[in-house]
Amino acid sequence: MKWVSVFPPNVPRFGLQNLTALFVLSEIEKGFPFAVLEGTLASNIRVGAMAALAAKHFAPEQARVIGFIGSGEQAKMNLLAMKTVRPSLVQCRVSAKTSEEEHQFVRELEPILPDMEFVAADTDGACAMDGADILVTATSAQAPLLKAAWMKPGSFYSHIGGWEDEYAVAKQCEKIVCDDWETVKHRTQTLSLMYKDGELDDADVYGDLTEVVAGDKPGREKDDERVYFNAVGLAFVDVAIALAMYRRAREAGKGRELTMQETMIFDHPRMADYVRL
Ligand SMILES: NC(=O)c1ccc[n+]([C@@H]2O[C@H](COP(=O)([O-])OP(=O)(O)OC[C@H]3O[C@@H](n4cnc5c(N)ncnc54)[C@H](O)[C@@H]3O)[C@@H](O)[C@H]2O)c1
Repeated sequence: MKWVSVFPPNVPRFGLQNLTALFVLSEIEKGFPFAVLEGTLASNIRVGAMAALAAKHFAPEQARVIGFIGSGEQAKMNLLAMKTVRPSLVQCRVSAKTSEEEHQFVRELEPILPDMEFVAADTDGACAMDGADILVTATSAQAPLLKAAWMKPGSFYSHIGGWEDEYAVAKQCEKIVCDDWETVKHRTQTLSLMYKDGELDDADVYGDLTEVVAGDKPGREKDDERVYFNAVGLAFVDVAIALAMYRRAREAGKGRELTMQETMIFDHPRMADYVRL
């Protein structure tokens, strides 16, 4: 099971993270829980990893410029993941709600990616996105921030948050790909809103990323095609990651044994004290 909380005001009010997560793993024979794991870092890595996996199949081979709207935890992790699959990236432009947040993004990422040139866009979305090879929106906003005109032919767009782009962005893309379209449909992303408004149909969606990774459908086919990727975020992926984390932790001798329940209920030595009939 994945437990997750998303509290966007944490960031401006307390300077703390928006998302917090825990995993609980249970075995299938008796149904007993066997591990509780911190899940925030793994969740954020998963979000970046899914987007980067899509970029591996759909972003331009020699992508040089990546643009962001949103500079929070997801944006940071996305940059690291994208740079892993597209080492050719040399410039990162970032815009956010405030320029302080943009500068914090640059302060934290610059030492990790010393070869990257960072540009803080002073809250100007066009400055961050216009003409970028890879575009990422990862905001807590609910507004059409990304404009279709900023997405050049041949670029790849990764959509992370809720409503972040005008409908014309998806409409102009040759391929729309999701982690799971059936799930996206029923949520609150731009694509979900378009579907509910009758502006997008099943036939407009190229497919799910799994189909491409499995080789059933090709990734990028033309240099000038625009590709739109939306991962809504699938908790079962996190649970699979949690199991892998647990196994590695056991192999490495990490973690702590916890006794969650000491006895069976009626074996409890003081059970009689608790029961007053
Ligand atoms: N798709 C997924 O798998 C997945 C997983 C986790 C989180 N999310 C979503 O990703 C989004 C970002 O999460 P986070 O943890 O990075 O949040 P965060 O609060 O750390 O960062 C949000 C960013 O959005 C920016 N922003 C807000 N309003 C804006 C506006 N009007 N114009 C420009 N920038 C604006 C803020 O400046 C900030 O940089 C959230 O919507 C969250 O729910 C998606």
